[in-house]
Amino acid sequence: SSAKLNISMSTPPCQWTTLRPYVFSSLLLLCFVTLFFTYSNFEMKFPSFNIFVDRARQSSVDTEPDTIVLIWMWPFGVPFDLSCSKFNIKKCQFTDDKALYDKAHGVLFHHRDIHGNLENMPKEPRPWFQKWVWFNMESPENSGLIPELDDLFNLTSNYRLDSNIPVPYGHLEPVKPEDESFKMPVKDKLVCWIVSNWNTQYRRVQFYDEMKEHIEIHTYGNAFGKNINDQEYTNIVSSCKFYLAFENSLYHDYLSDKIYSPMKLGTVPVVMGPSRRNYEDHVPGDSFIHVDDFSTPKELADRLLYLDKNETEYTAYFDWTNRFKVQQSSFGPTHACETCRYLQRNKGYQAFHGLNKWYWG
Ligand SMILES: *[C@@H]1O[C@H](CO)[C@@H](O)[C@H](O)[C@H]1NC(C)=O
Ligand SMILES: *[C@@H]1O[C@H](CO)[C@@H](O)[C@H](O)[C@H]1NC(C)=O
Repeated sequence: SSAKLNISMSTPPCQWTTLRPYVFSSLLLLCFVTLFFTYSNFEMKFPSFNIFVDRARQSSVDTEPDTIVLIWMWPFGVPFDLSCSKFNIKKCQFTDDKALYDKAHGVLFHHRDIHGNLENMPKEPRPWFQKWVWFNMESPENSGLIPELDDLFNLTSNYRLDSNIPVPYGHLEPVKPEDESFKMPVKDKLVCWIVSNWNTQYRRVQFYDEMKEHIEIHTYGNAFGKNINDQEYTNIVSSCKFYLAFENSLYHDYLSDKIYSPMKLGTVPVVMGPSRRNYEDHVPGDSFIHVDDFSTPKELADRLLYLDKNETEYTAYFDWTNRFKVQQSSFGPTHACETCRYLQRNKGYQAFHGLNKWYWG
């Protein structure tokens, strides 16, 4: 009986002995796995879930349709290159195919090419989501008012900073470390002026007539029977210490290439246009000379003659080049690309009422 008992008693130890290595190794494995997941940087990833999220994210981008901008008329009839890559604007589709009118999110109309009435404007009703953009870079004096346009557009694109899609002729960007530092071009002339449009009624003509009595002004351009090409323009402007950046019409925010090109070419612009205050909305106050700072053309001439002799004071007009560089806009492409960007960011209802009072006052 005791033997029987012994046998029966010894059975479990005997089974335990057989199982022991398995139990221990299982426990060890479990410990190891737990420690591994706890202390290693092994991140619990659910690959299939992540792939799902990525795909969902990607497809939400891919299914977002391109913004279609219809160029209703090429400005002055001249097509321009349409790529927004240098503006870092994506997912824009441009077309001049009027058959896409029903699909276009925006339609660009160049004021000059509307030609005075609504004859060559779309005749079909405007799709509910579509915005019409009034595009003009001429000053009010050089643009014809068209009464029918007063309440027609949704947006404006103009040099004026208070337009919906402002496109000034130029603006200053910060210099980047990789940019070439400014080098003053070689100067062999003091004052230069290039002018094509001569009108004795213009303030600039009267000012010039008086100023030239006190200082030599090198003149070029159509008005002086000296047509020049782009290369000659660059050579002439950069070789003068001062350039007369006299606008043909004087309007708020109307700063044309007449100031931005000399600034870019390393020449001090002597400006006539809106007030100094308004110039300083666009460029640093020590980057130009304003005719209104002088009571007479002679006083201005005397200042330029003084600056010709004082290198320190002259070079101070280029201090801004340590911080900024001029970026000029491209007539057409900048408007089209900025319009696309604007439409992508502003999808709500918008209407521009009273265009004529806003622009022509
Ligand atoms: C040039 O201008 C600087 C700064 O205004 C002045 O200190 C210096 O005396 C001037 N030099 C001459 C020769 O006028
Ligand atoms: C655009 O402007 C017109 C005219 O004011 C208006 O009827 C239309 O609803 C506007 N469309 C959008 C998308 O804002």
